Amino acid sequence: RRPISLPRLAQMRAAGEKIAMLTAYDATFAAVADAAGVECILVGDSLGMVCQGLPSTVGVSLDDMAYHTASVARGLHRVQGTAWLVADLPYGSYGESREQALRSACQLMQAGAHMVKLEGGGWTAPTVQFLVERGVPVCAHLGLTPQTVHALGGYRVQGREGVAAQQLRRQARELQDAGAAMLVLEMVPAALAAELTAELAHCHTIGIGAGRGTAGQVLVLHDMLGMNLGRMPRFVRDFMQGAGSVRGAIEAYVRAVKDGSFPDDQLHAW
Ligand code: KIV
Ligand code: NA
Repeated sequence: RRPISLPRLAQMRAAGEKIAMLTAYDATFAAVADAAGVECILVGDSLGMVCQGLPSTVGVSLDDMAYHTASVARGLHRVQGTAWLVADLPYGSYGESREQALRSACQLMQAGAHMVKLEGGGWTAPTVQFLVERGVPVCAHLGLTPQTVHALGGYRVQGREGVAAQQLRRQARELQDAGAAMLVLEMVPAALAAELTAELAHCHTIGIGAGRGTAGQVLVLHDMLGMNLGRMPRFVRDFMQGAGSVRGAIEAYVRAVKDGSFPDDQLHAW
């Protein structure tokens, strides 16, 4: 298998093949996910909850992200993995200035990331452009943005009303124009996510709780293995059911994303 690259992802999109993304935080799970056929691995700041037992992603530091990114990158290297490696810029590591964002992004790229992800729209567009111009591929993230959970008032669906949907659409366009090559849409109505996907030809939408109309899907690894310290979000499916092994569960996830049987718009979306 050839390494996954941005041109390869664009090819998949053109051919109508869905992109399967999953989080991983350590070498072994990253290697298993890669072997199971996951194209994109996200070292998400969800590691705050999953690995560190924090109440939200707000407490995760840039050094924490670099540590887990390096672990995942080494795991992929050990098995000659082909996955595209995305790492989250954590809370407080990119909002101060474009220069701060670039410095933080470089730390994650040097730890082995191929792309960095940052949350929010509007003010983030110039930051995205600044990074992209300097050779850092960027994934944006709109809808429910967990780093701003306290400002949003909880983990709830975003972009439901007309005004909010219009703002989301405008921000998504700005982010594509700024050069974002990927866009995570979290907890937005399925119809809106599908519309955005059709509008954004150069920016691959990856949905989580956003219906089946996106170019790809992402889940938190531990959630889809049926392990969660809190309440399981409605948009998750437990792929361990009937799978027999972690590798088997991840293979089932990849299959379900590719054949469109996950997510089910009735069960997993709004
Ligand atoms: O941190 C994370 O795991 C994420 C995904 C859920 C998109 O940002
Ligand atoms: Na995240």
